[in-house]
Amino acid sequence: MGKKITISVIKADVGGFVGHSSVHPALLEKARALLEGNPLVIDSHVTHVGDDINLILTHETGRNNGEIHQLAWDIFVACTEIAKKLKLYGAGQDLLADAFSGNIKGMGPGIAEMEFEERASEPIIVFMADKTEPGAWNMPLYKMFADPFNTIGLVIDPKMHSGFNFEVRDLIDNKKIMFSTPEDLYDMLVFIGAPGRYSIKRIFHKETGEIASVSSTQRLNLMAGRYVGKDDPVCIVRCQSGFPALGEALEPFAFPHLVAGWMRGSHHGPLMPVSVEDAHPTRFDGPPRVVALGFQLCDGKLVGPQDLFADPAFDNARKLANDIADYLRRLGPFEPHRLPLDEMEYTTMPQVTKKLKDRFIDLRKS
Ligand code: F6R
Ligand code: MG
Ligand code: MG
Repeated sequence: MGKKITISVIKADVGGFVGHSSVHPALLEKARALLEGNPLVIDSHVTHVGDDINLILTHETGRNNGEIHQLAWDIFVACTEIAKKLKLYGAGQDLLADAFSGNIKGMGPGIAEMEFEERASEPIIVFMADKTEPGAWNMPLYKMFADPFNTIGLVIDPKMHSGFNFEVRDLIDNKKIMFSTPEDLYDMLVFIGAPGRYSIKRIFHKETGEIASVSSTQRLNLMAGRYVGKDDPVCIVRCQSGFPALGEALEPFAFPHLVAGWMRGSHHGPLMPVSVEDAHPTRFDGPPRVVALGFQLCDGKLVGPQDLFADPAFDNARKLANDIADYLRRLGPFEPHRLPLDEMEYTTMPQVTKKLKDRFIDLRKS
């Protein structure tokens, strides 16, 4: 048995530059400096998508390791200090607790971790999104791992033909269920087609049991009990040799599907695949963005990144996303651009209802 490598992607919005559009370079520099030469990690890559800082870490200490989580927490705290000094917008917004308490889960930052024995060659993709929620990965993950119209490997690669097992989380009732595809496809779609509530957490190779994908499933707004921004999720996917080919993992993003998020976390909009350079959502605070960084792991070292959406092959998806954005924006405050009442992150409904209380006439009594 070779040694096991853990990859942890931990992210937080600790202050926007400008507004909620991007991250100030001083914060990224600070995060990089704190990781440089740190003995806990084998390697690290610091990046951002929109106003979220993403720490991509490799180490040998497994998932849910307190020291790794503490390190990420301390980095976000240090970045918050700079954000406060520069009066950046929403400084410290995702650090919901005053002090670290052993595990970063439930404290605000988003996290996706997987542990595996590195293969002879280990290509991985880290997907990171801004201005949307964890359920945004449901459709692309379904396509990658269960849809033969996207992933021809499911049909013609003997190493993929038996399918994958999906762990789906109910984010409201805090439950999980396993689905085995292709047998359970129709049952699974009943749930994952409702991405505001059900979200794909992990995917496993059916024959080997190997982890294939993991995503962050925090719902910040549910944790905090008040509006603190959308969860801006991350997702790790292992590629090739029994997993989707790199191109099969990227292909779902050639279709900019509608996700919840965008302005004030309260609108549907297209998920636009972009390079890191273009990952600063501005129009109506959006549209929601996704970035894909590819790495080859080499003894835990992150060889890369390759900025995978920095490719003209995704130009049509971006164009379509802009066309969809034009169309949706013309709906203004109307659904289905605006989210249904129970899914909006901001709502004046209680105040307005209270104000108009006496003007509502109960028609059942007249
Ligand atoms: C969405 C987001 C932004 C803000 C908007 C208003 O996830 O972060 O669209 O909701 O800019 O922000 P506040 O309420 O901070 O003025
Ligand atoms: Mg923000
Ligand atoms: Mg964000």
